[in-house]
Amino acid sequence: MRYVVTGAAGFIGSHLAESLLTAGHEVVGVDCFTDYYDPAEKEENARGLNVVRLDLAEEPLDLAGVEGVFHLAGQPGVRSFGDVFPLYVRRNVLATQRVLETAAAAGVRVVFASSSSVYGDAESYPTPEDAVPRPVSPYGITKLACEHLVRAYGVDAVVLRYFTVYGPRQRPDMFLRRACDALLSGGPLEIYGSGEQSRSFTEVGDAVAATMRTMERAPAGAVYNVGGGEEASVLDAIALLERVSGGTLDVRHVDRAAGDVRRTKADVTRIAEALGWRPSATLQDGLARMWAWAIGRESK
Ligand code: NAD
Ligand code: UGA
Repeated sequence: MRYVVTGAAGFIGSHLAESLLTAGHEVVGVDCFTDYYDPAEKEENARGLNVVRLDLAEEPLDLAGVEGVFHLAGQPGVRSFGDVFPLYVRRNVLATQRVLETAAAAGVRVVFASSSSVYGDAESYPTPEDAVPRPVSPYGITKLACEHLVRAYGVDAVVLRYFTVYGPRQRPDMFLRRACDALLSGGPLEIYGSGEQSRSFTEVGDAVAATMRTMERAPAGAVYNVGGGEEASVLDAIALLERVSGGTLDVRHVDRAAGDVRRTKADVTRIAEALGWRPSATLQDGLARMWAWAIGRESK
């Protein structure tokens, strides 16, 4: 099959593109290498991939001969208050609207990367997909707007709500990556609030497997949580990373961050029943792989 992966130079998109190639598919990556984090990291991520430089918010996307679009391009990061909002609107809402417009005209399936952040401080845990969405970050609001666009366009599309994905190449603004970087540099690691906030941390290989299976088998219109099996607090995750790495972090507590939710815990019953997908990596094994990657990168 010939697939387009948008955001292919990013963290999750680069892993997805590689796994699709390994499975024998043809992959056209699309990315505009935004400067949200160092574009040199994106160049590294994209090595060995065919990535077309294209800004989905203003340039045309060619879907001739394409079987499906994995739409992962976007502006991530829940701590999204302030004058960055136009970037979230442009890279999430506008870019997604344009991808949907093109996919609708071409009759091509779309798998859209949404987020656990659409739930906000959720009404129940573990959180099922039909919980009322009430995002608490501007980012989450733009992702929810994208989900509504997917529905409004009525295209053959599936929405995946990823829960805090981690692993090699994780974005440098994310917590576990910052923790690895702090261990390597000996610098401090800031914890927002008490550190008792928890996440369904999801290993990137698990997220990619769910995404590929969704394109192949999911019914049109489905919405699935893609979340790790183990909920861990920020403090639990630090303790585990210290054990895996043999290092000690210099932790400093700072104020809670606006846009952060207290807890995420994914109910993955729906995707397990529909597609037979379940998270398989333990947090300990996933952190060991991520730490090995961080050390390897440092020594280059
Ligand atoms: P990332 O920032 O590493 O990757 C996103 C990529 O999209 C970047 O390389 C960026 O340059 C590209 N991009 C942004 N705007 C674009 C545009 N207009 N045209 C072309 N390319 C553009 O982020 P990630 O962590 O890999 O996340 C991938 C997707 O999954 C995002 O949509 C994010 O919102 C979503 N998501 C991520 C997580 C997570 O834990 N990482 C969780 C939930 C949802
Ligand atoms: C992540 C991604 O950044 C979002 O793009 C994504 O949409 C979201 O997951 C999701 O699940 O939908 P987040 O859970 O905030 O958001 O991911 P991290 O940046 O890894 O933060 C995890 C926890 O660590 C949060 O509770 C945060 O408060 C804490 N943290 C983060 C710190 O204590 N210090 C930091 O420097 C960074």
